[in-house]
Amino acid sequence: MTDLLSRALRVIPSGCNTFSKSRAQWPANAPSHLGRGRGGHVWDAQQREYIDFTLGLGPIILGYKDPEVEHSVRLALDDGPIFSMPYQLEVAIAEMLTEVIPCAEMVKFGLNGSDATTAAVRCARAHTGRDVIRSHGYHGWSDTFSPNTAGIPQATRALTEQIDLGDDMWDAVDRNVAAVIIEPDNFSPGMLRRLRENCDRAGALLIFDEVLTGFRIALGGYQEYSGVTPDLATFSKAMGNGYPISAVVGKREYMQTFERIGFSGTFLGSTPGLAATGAVIRKMRAEPVIARLWEHGNTIKSVFTECAKESGIDAELTGLAPRLVFRFKGDTDVDPIIRDRPARLAWRTLFAQSLIERGILANFGFTFAYAHSDSDIERACEAIRDAFEVLANVDKPEDALIGEAASPGLRAA
Ligand SMILES: Cc1ncc(COP(=O)(O)O)c(C=O)c1O
Repeated sequence: MTDLLSRALRVIPSGCNTFSKSRAQWPANAPSHLGRGRGGHVWDAQQREYIDFTLGLGPIILGYKDPEVEHSVRLALDDGPIFSMPYQLEVAIAEMLTEVIPCAEMVKFGLNGSDATTAAVRCARAHTGRDVIRSHGYHGWSDTFSPNTAGIPQATRALTEQIDLGDDMWDAVDRNVAAVIIEPDNFSPGMLRRLRENCDRAGALLIFDEVLTGFRIALGGYQEYSGVTPDLATFSKAMGNGYPISAVVGKREYMQTFERIGFSGTFLGSTPGLAATGAVIRKMRAEPVIARLWEHGNTIKSVFTECAKESGIDAELTGLAPRLVFRFKGDTDVDPIIRDRPARLAWRTLFAQSLIERGILANFGFTFAYAHSDSDIERACEAIRDAFEVLANVDKPEDALIGEAASPGLRAA
């Protein structure tokens, strides 16, 4: 155990502030802490360099310390970090979001994804006068959504019904439902259209949680990609290239409900996140950022798929190219927090362990940044080839793991 990790465990519960960054999510040879990032690369406390394909869990879309973003943030910080009245940039950035996101007629800013999803469902409940929320996917840590239910009253939990894609009930929307909130990339455009119609029929709002897909699958999110427009949508992660910011956006008739609900906070509208978002949008409009993310993802996916086939290992990369997720079929990928069952992610952990030995950080899959160079991608492809060779030469992944297998993430498949 590193010195930093043992100090962290003394003063921070679990030694970590974000579940998905914790030791339990990484192989034992991963650095316990990172100290610096530039472009698509990061350095640990011992100055070891890695090509990063986890990217802070998604916010880094252009690259660490993108020059235009940093310049805009410096200018904003020169103005001041926060004010006693709205910052002038709030208006311009809200206007920009209404230009690039299909459903966005009005905008409310938050600081993280959980702010936005929690505010969106409160808006839907206030608008419809109904309490029940139907949900698919991960939407943050609030009482309405947290998969870890410890400390959340049963009465609150009962109001959030999980949608199961495994049966054909996923689109049944009753008239007591205030909103259906989903991670839209788990649904085909056809399923989304059906959900759209069923929500309209039941008078429920359709909310796309685009915290992961926004600015990544397309600038305007999965709604731009699929052509299906929700009533409300939530954006965060990539919109600030790492600076804290989120937004609930949507149709005017629903967004006006924000005038009478209690969504507010001292730090909402603080200057760095707004300035960063402006710079991200300008760059994404001017340069082929999205095309490059897709190109990187398609290259990695084809090498991974070819290696899996050649080595006879039952593995795939799922999801859309800008963010790909590992599935190793020998693993039991069941979330113990949600379903209270032991999980085994040994193949995935061994794969990530092998990548880390080759200077590649990727624990649950590959997320891409515009700053990843062709040679970064080529190095990742070589590491994938080597990792499959390691996997092909063991009977049981546990035999080659240097520590425990990682535990599953919070997100349902
Ligand atoms: C789809 C989705 N929604 C909401 C959240 C919550 O965002 P945050 O962790 O910034 O509160 C996440 C975080 O991973 C997410 O992936």
